[in-house]
Amino acid sequence: MSIYEDYEKRAAVYDKHRVAAGADTLIGILLGQTRKPLSQLHVLDAGCGTGNYSLALLKEGLGHVTLLDASEGMLHVAKKKLKTFIEDGRAEVKRGVMPDLDFPDDTFDAIMFNQTLHHVENSPNSEGEYLKIYKTLQRAKQILKYGGVIIFNTSTPCQIRNTFTWLPTEEYQNIEIKVMGINPDKFKQYLQKIGMEKIEFVIPATATLWNKGTLRDLDGPLKQDVRDTMSTFANLERLGLLEKYLEDYKTFRKSIKSDDEFLKEEEISRQNYGQILFIYGC
Ligand SMILES: C[S@@+](CC[C@H](N)C(=O)[O-])C[C@H]1O[C@@H](n2cnc3c(N)ncnc32)[C@H](O)[C@@H]1O
Repeated sequence: MSIYEDYEKRAAVYDKHRVAAGADTLIGILLGQTRKPLSQLHVLDAGCGTGNYSLALLKEGLGHVTLLDASEGMLHVAKKKLKTFIEDGRAEVKRGVMPDLDFPDDTFDAIMFNQTLHHVENSPNSEGEYLKIYKTLQRAKQILKYGGVIIFNTSTPCQIRNTFTWLPTEEYQNIEIKVMGINPDKFKQYLQKIGMEKIEFVIPATATLWNKGTLRDLDGPLKQDVRDTMSTFANLERLGLLEKYLEDYKTFRKSIKSDDEFLKEEEISRQNYGQILFIYGC
């Protein structure tokens, strides 16, 4: 269950704007690290949402995927989208709330967490630890086959500062960083602690979380359905800051002299920093 976003409400609009960012990179990691053809792999898509990543992998020939999410609404969309693959026995959908991952040990060749672990836990305890995330990864290691790979993608504090166009000031970037920008080194420590020997970071420089049309829409934050696909806005609402943000964004929007030039600069920034980071351990 996300600690700050109501995904039952978001499910209806999620796919209008969001995409499986970096799915090609993910496939590269799966092939390179498991050293098996995609058709022989059984992957767990933990925190699958509407199933965008699973669908991308199945279309490329993935053998079998199990999708798990806490939200019935998101799973309902996933089931509809993956109907033919479910009927063919290549996909199944299960409701579950992490850190629980209720599967037998040694089940999966790979377990992926895309843009999801910061919803499981996003504030550290007094010792700076994210115990629910650690517990989720520990459990993931148990249900992973020998030689398997754990992969997750997230956005780092640096990426949020430099590539989240809709957060024009440090005030809002800092709020987002507090919510989702867990230091990548923390993830690395946890992967080491659960016994992963090789840990790598990969940034797909041109991958974006939203489709290109949405990303280029500088009026996006002023539209409810676009806001519904970015948990930042749910968080600003929770903090009572949404109205102030909208006023600040309108002022910022007016200050942009040329949309084309602004968007070009944003694209260059994204190429330099990337919008997401994949971390994997095997
Ligand atoms: C930003 S969405 C990402 C969805 C999908 N992985 C993607 O990248 O398109 C986060 C997802 O994590 C799910 N989620 C949040 N907390 C969860 C938990 N504790 N256990 C299982 N799923 C959770 C939400 O329901 C939501 O579908």
